Amino acid sequence: MDSHDQDFKENGDSTHDDNNNHVSKKIKLSPFISDSEIREEFAHHDPGVARINNGSFGSCPAYVIAAQKEWQLRFLRQPDDFYFNQLQKGILESRKVIKDLVNADDVEEVTIVDNATTAAAIVLQQIGWSFAEGKFQKGDAAVMLHYAYGAVKKSIQAYVSRAGGYVIEVNLPFPVKSNEEIIVEFRKALEKGKSNGRKVRLAVIDHITSMPCVVIPVKELVKLCREEGVDQVFVDAAHAIGSVEVDMKDIGADFYTSNLHKWFFCPPSVAFLYCRRSSKVSDLHHPVVSHEYGNGLPIESAWIGTRDYSSQLVVPSALDFVNRFEGGIEGIRKRNHEIVIKMGEMLSEAWGTLLGSPPDMCSSMVMVGFPASLEISSEVDALKLRKHLRESFGIEVPIYYRVPEEGELEAQNKDNCITGYARISHQVYNTDDDYYKFRDAINQLIQEGFTCKMLPSN
Ligand SMILES: Cc1ncc(COP(=O)(O)O)c(C=O)c1O
Repeated sequence: MDSHDQDFKENGDSTHDDNNNHVSKKIKLSPFISDSEIREEFAHHDPGVARINNGSFGSCPAYVIAAQKEWQLRFLRQPDDFYFNQLQKGILESRKVIKDLVNADDVEEVTIVDNATTAAAIVLQQIGWSFAEGKFQKGDAAVMLHYAYGAVKKSIQAYVSRAGGYVIEVNLPFPVKSNEEIIVEFRKALEKGKSNGRKVRLAVIDHITSMPCVVIPVKELVKLCREEGVDQVFVDAAHAIGSVEVDMKDIGADFYTSNLHKWFFCPPSVAFLYCRRSSKVSDLHHPVVSHEYGNGLPIESAWIGTRDYSSQLVVPSALDFVNRFEGGIEGIRKRNHEIVIKMGEMLSEAWGTLLGSPPDMCSSMVMVGFPASLEISSEVDALKLRKHLRESFGIEVPIYYRVPEEGELEAQNKDNCITGYARISHQVYNTDDDYYKFRDAINQLIQEGFTCKMLPSN
């Protein structure tokens, strides 16, 4: 078979040409991964669950799991050889892949860490030292979004507030209609930060907020920070790589982190932390100190004691996997976005509700309003409903409780007041049936006159 023939296969049917000679019909084989191959790659997923929550923990195909296992065995086979000859080289390969994916200037700008939480600790620990060593003054400000991720907020509390920093939260509207609404609020927070002659030392900006999920106009906010003289800008983009465009030169932040185990098909856990070469900050260290302390963040982070590094080594394999899809990672994220919007609109129409933001402020996730009749009136209700959907219907979806504005519930449009939103995700393994199952479950609950008050307290 020559290379041309490899793209074709006989489909078993035969036909006749103009001269009535017998010829077999050939059909073109797509060079891209097929639906059945996708199903095989994710055959380990629980078949009873409509998993429309890729956002929380991501997903890992069989191909990458096999590559991870091979790395694990290499270590177990001959640990010393692995340590001396393979680990550093392998991690460098992963860093090079990431450098190209995110359009960084230099591989030295890319460090591999466990997760976005670790990346935040690296950046914020350095801020804490700047307070402790007198580079920053007590009362200097740090600005973050009100919807910053809970764990990152705790880190800010631990490393910045505790060191004497004054933390300002940017209030964001939700539902949100435009980027402008976010930019206006962010500008107000920076003005507040600079009042009384204070300096704004740090801005922490999410690229995609977690709950509620909204794509933040990060490039515009970084620019605003530069204009207003903010010392350091850290973008927490835990959900970004694989679900939105990620371009370090374009975004222009000092620090940027994204998990690869959420939307880039890596196993848990692996993330990158980008540190801009031209940034004034060089005193960054991994919070777990080991032999490589002082040898630069990428090298320090590549050995933080004996442990399993396999998830950090499979990044090139994850890239091989995404390149089996038409358009690679860009194609995947575009299709995910289109489908999740379509499914979100299908659900909101079926339930007579709305999406939480316009499509261009969504990634591969979208917030869909629940019908008011479910009476979601607290975070506890949201959790109880999520559990009910998991246990009684086989649906896994995170739910956001939105505190109504003052007077909103008493107003005559009470029946339209959306206090609960589902965060639905779309990844390559999802099918439309996953979302129909969700639609039908909620419709059934509505028909039965269900409210969250009916659920047991635990
Ligand atoms: C915005 C944001 N930041 C940080 C994190 C933390 O990610 P990890 O638990 O992988 O460290 C998440 C996780 O969902 C997130 O959504």
